[in-house]
Amino acid sequence: MRYRIVDNIWDELKLYTGEGNYLLISDENIYSLYKGNIEELLKGKDNIYLIKPGEKNKNLGEIGKIYDQLIAKDIDRDGLILSLGGGMVGDMAGFAASTYKRGINYVQVPTSLLAQVDSGIGGKTGIDHGGLKNVVGAFHFPLETLIDIRFIKTLQERDIRSGLGEVIKYGIIEDYDFFNYLKENIEKILKKDKDILTFIIKRSVEIKSLIVEEDKLDMDLRQKLNFGHTIGHSIESFFNYEKYYHGEAVILGMLIETYIAYRKGLIDYKYYDEIRETLIDLVEAYDFSEGEVNTLLQIMKNDKKNRDGKIAFILPTDRGEVEIFFDVEETLIKEAIFHFNKE
Ligand SMILES: NC(=O)c1ccc[n+]([C@@H]2O[C@H](COP(=O)([O-])OP(=O)(O)OC[C@H]3O[C@@H](n4cnc5c(N)ncnc54)[C@H](O)[C@@H]3O)[C@@H](O)[C@H]2O)c1
Repeated sequence: MRYRIVDNIWDELKLYTGEGNYLLISDENIYSLYKGNIEELLKGKDNIYLIKPGEKNKNLGEIGKIYDQLIAKDIDRDGLILSLGGGMVGDMAGFAASTYKRGINYVQVPTSLLAQVDSGIGGKTGIDHGGLKNVVGAFHFPLETLIDIRFIKTLQERDIRSGLGEVIKYGIIEDYDFFNYLKENIEKILKKDKDILTFIIKRSVEIKSLIVEEDKLDMDLRQKLNFGHTIGHSIESFFNYEKYYHGEAVILGMLIETYIAYRKGLIDYKYYDEIRETLIDLVEAYDFSEGEVNTLLQIMKNDKKNRDGKIAFILPTDRGEVEIFFDVEETLIKEAIFHFNKE
């Protein structure tokens, strides 16, 4: 698995666009923000496909249009897909690359914080279908992932908060010093301090790629990356992927799952409170009724990680450490969700 932090993405990409046997996939937002650079890269050719932004477009219909473009541009088995965008573009471009002509190469250029620290690393590609998120997909590792931190300059603050959720997750699951660093620097990160962003993106990519390297196909160790995701996914799905961004839902999931860990006696109050303080202001609170919490539980019961009908939770067990548990009582799950209801 290769990734590089680069100083000037447009120079790097020129190395890939010389032959013409490529399709650049991006979204309309990225195109309008970086039109000059993109047009210069394309050198008058139309080897580009733009997806409409938004999770609702991460579907088979759009993949069909990408295949049409690949065929129309005569991209052969030695051809290349260049993915330029956030996690949505990356997941779709990667999925198209994994299936077109039984698989062609692709290069990931993640442009959002979430994509740079998470979705652009790890080879998971996919699309949503039938109301289910990422239900169709494949493992397909890019030739390389090229990270240019300057993309963060144009990102909205809400997208930074969302990406920051996954960054803080790395501190909690693997590196307590990193967690402390993030806790101290949240305001500067939100103000896009370049040196701090560079450090946190590098450290996040290092942590994720080491974990993925050990368990490429998500059989074991990689599960720890799902901290916050059991409950996070259920909240995202409950709101039909409209109310919360992915990283925001993960932040809520981490809050609730940390409370569960504290109530199970896995961590002390001090550590629980440190995590709570760090995360609580990053995301808007919810207000679930009893019936809605039962619906969330039903969604959790369909989680891919479950075993023998038991819901899987990755829970903190110490500073910088997590483990998987299958024995969390439903009453405790409900208590934990209600604990964070808006007052
Ligand atoms: N494959 C994986 O391992 C993995 C992991 C986590 C999340 N995901 C997927 O990633 C997606 C979420 O990713 P995301 O948060 O990047 O969402 P996104 O791709 O929808 O991007 C969010 C918004 O930011 C805009 N944007 C992206 N880069 C920008 C930039 N530099 N400047 C200005 N605007 C920019 C996009 O146009 C979009 O409007 C979801 O589909 C999720 O399922 C995949």
